[in-house]
Amino acid sequence: MKKMLIAGNWKMNMTTTESVKLIQNIIEGIKNKKLLTDILICPPFTSIDAVSKVLKDTKILYGAQNCHFESKGAYTGEISIPMLKELGCKFIIIGHSERRTYFFENDELINKKARAVLALGLSPIICIGETLREREENRTFDVLKRQIEIGMSRIEPENCAQIVIAYEPVWAIGTGISAEPEQVQEAHAFIKGELVRVLGKRASSIIVLYGGSVTDENAKSILELTDVHGGLIGGASLKSDIFLSIIETANSILEK
Ligand code: PGA
Repeated sequence: MKKMLIAGNWKMNMTTTESVKLIQNIIEGIKNKKLLTDILICPPFTSIDAVSKVLKDTKILYGAQNCHFESKGAYTGEISIPMLKELGCKFIIIGHSERRTYFFENDELINKKARAVLALGLSPIICIGETLREREENRTFDVLKRQIEIGMSRIEPENCAQIVIAYEPVWAIGTGISAEPEQVQEAHAFIKGELVRVLGKRASSIIVLYGGSVTDENAKSILELTDVHGGLIGGASLKSDIFLSIIETANSILEK
């Protein structure tokens, strides 16, 4: 059966008070529903502890949006993986395009972080995707190939079950312009092929999420694609009714 993960990336939104309210609304919305899809929430660091307490006794997973690759040390302002692990985080988003763009993260650093996350038994959600310019210059597949080759280097095939990839075309993030289903399927099929080429056949089980302007309106056409195993949802995860509707869509696809 197809696996699905609907992940909310709250980015730098929501104070702790607002976070608790939002997560309470999401819990309320799925109460008494049979959930076939996995749900993950990635609040800002400051809200993780409070959100985790509200999520106790629910099946909703939670994680973080970034981490440092070192376990501790003199890195002012950074957060380590053991700190997040102690809070119960199971997933950490790595290499989001906003981190690549605004904080100059490159594939080598992202690989370091991913290996550190795996070494501590957590799951990295490794984000990849081309810019508009790269797409227009027909370099999409070269970029994805490079991001996968470097991003996955020195990662052992036995870690495949822990890895999640998020394909997020940069031009679709926060713009309201989602990639067309054909573009998404084409990219996901390519990514899956590259993962197997780099990591071997165990990589065929790696979950590949799509991210970039997913809403309740386009969720069905994206989530039902063969090689899409869920979504990394930004803006639409900040409104409980829209996020719940995306969860409902994922669930109904799995029910078929
Ligand atoms: P968006 O963000 O859904 O607001 O486009 C997605 C993401 O950046 O993960």
